[in-house]
Amino acid sequence: MAQLWGGRFTKATDDLVYEFNASITFDKTFFHEDIAGSRVHVKMLSKQGIITAEDEKAILAGLDSIEQDVDNGKLEITTEYEDIHSFVEANLIDRIGEPGKKLHTGRSRNDQVALDMRLYTRSQVDYTKEQLVDLLNVILRIMKDNTSTIMPGFTHLQKAQPITLAHHMGAYFEMFRRDVERMSDIRRRMNYCPLGSGALAGTTYPLDRDYTASELGFTGACNNSMDGVSDRDYLIEYLSALSTVMMHLSRFSEEVIIWNSNEYGFVEIDDSYSTGSSIMPQKKNPDIAELVRGKTGRVYGALMSILTTMKGIPLAYNKDMQEDKELAFDAMRTTNGCIQLFAGMLDTMSFNKDVMYESAKLGFTNATDAADYLVNHGVPFRDAHGIIGQIVLYCIDKGIAIDDMSLEELKSICPAFEEDIYDAISMETCVSKRLTKGACSKKSMEEAIANYESYIESITS
Ligand code: ARG
Repeated sequence: MAQLWGGRFTKATDDLVYEFNASITFDKTFFHEDIAGSRVHVKMLSKQGIITAEDEKAILAGLDSIEQDVDNGKLEITTEYEDIHSFVEANLIDRIGEPGKKLHTGRSRNDQVALDMRLYTRSQVDYTKEQLVDLLNVILRIMKDNTSTIMPGFTHLQKAQPITLAHHMGAYFEMFRRDVERMSDIRRRMNYCPLGSGALAGTTYPLDRDYTASELGFTGACNNSMDGVSDRDYLIEYLSALSTVMMHLSRFSEEVIIWNSNEYGFVEIDDSYSTGSSIMPQKKNPDIAELVRGKTGRVYGALMSILTTMKGIPLAYNKDMQEDKELAFDAMRTTNGCIQLFAGMLDTMSFNKDVMYESAKLGFTNATDAADYLVNHGVPFRDAHGIIGQIVLYCIDKGIAIDDMSLEELKSICPAFEEDIYDAISMETCVSKRLTKGACSKKSMEEAIANYESYIESITS
């Protein structure tokens, strides 16, 4: 048992208590951030004349050697230490002796852990953003290839109106673009440095908090030391944004699963992203999409967990806050992995354009346009709606599409129909006439695509 405290204790910690209290098994995740924070802290202590330049040199060299040895496997992070902070400090003292004991001057594990968690989360926020941009690029590529690929659009999972695949993909582009924006917002708000808050009240040493903040890439130092050690809002915001990403991926997965079903046959997931059955030789299952959908609950769980943990905690630091890590790390790993896998699956998926077209055509998706045609020929909309309803019933009975009816048949139900009805209700016309901003026509989607291209360029350059 290697602990940083013990002076005021007369008995050793009970083994179970030690294990219950320890966090090394999971806070080793931010070993590199812990070292980075210590480096800057030590430089600042020396700059401020709180420790000597020789001590600074010795400590920095010690930290370097610990980091190298862990990275190349020479030094193992074991449960012999209570947490990652104790691991680093104990090893430092082992290696460099007396100067090592000065590392923790003007610092508490409370501001130290607050810093490590914030640094780690910040890099994860950046990583999620990168993953999302990769996904946006895949979606944009599919959009560009499919501005004329007609498919049915659905409401209530019933065929509604014809749209294009570009239009459908564009809806997801919008969702994931908002997710990207959420990452930028979170980063901006969280980018304040808690180091120097001490245990809660600040410190009596003349620390230069602005220096440490800027060296670690922060906009500035947290304004209030109690808030500095006890704020986990940024984590809640990030987990909430990750939950939204997963909700989007889950909806998309659900659609891919439906589209990939034997009944729909709109898409075929590539063999490299499908799995088989141990008993049914014919099966090719969309397990990746199902797992993404399934893992969504787990990410929501992490958000619920931290919200619940934080709700009853008085200021400032309380040990409850150690519970901010395990599920959050899991949620970050899960979401980032899901985005990457989903993008790969989408990129390799093939679209059965003929099947999509036929499905749109045979689903009365042009019924609205047929009613609009009658309105343009002087029939009031409510009447037109009723007439087309009758026509649909007639077609269902005969197993045909509206376009398959002869002009005589159409005229027998409503004399306002003329020869130009066929062109007016073709799938192509239904799509190309929807020219408003954000609508499904090729023209509207080409504008959207140009917009998306410059958006991606603006956030990646
Ligand atoms: N392992 C602790 C955590 O994750 C580090 C901070 C401990 N501070 C303390 N006063 N016990 O929150």
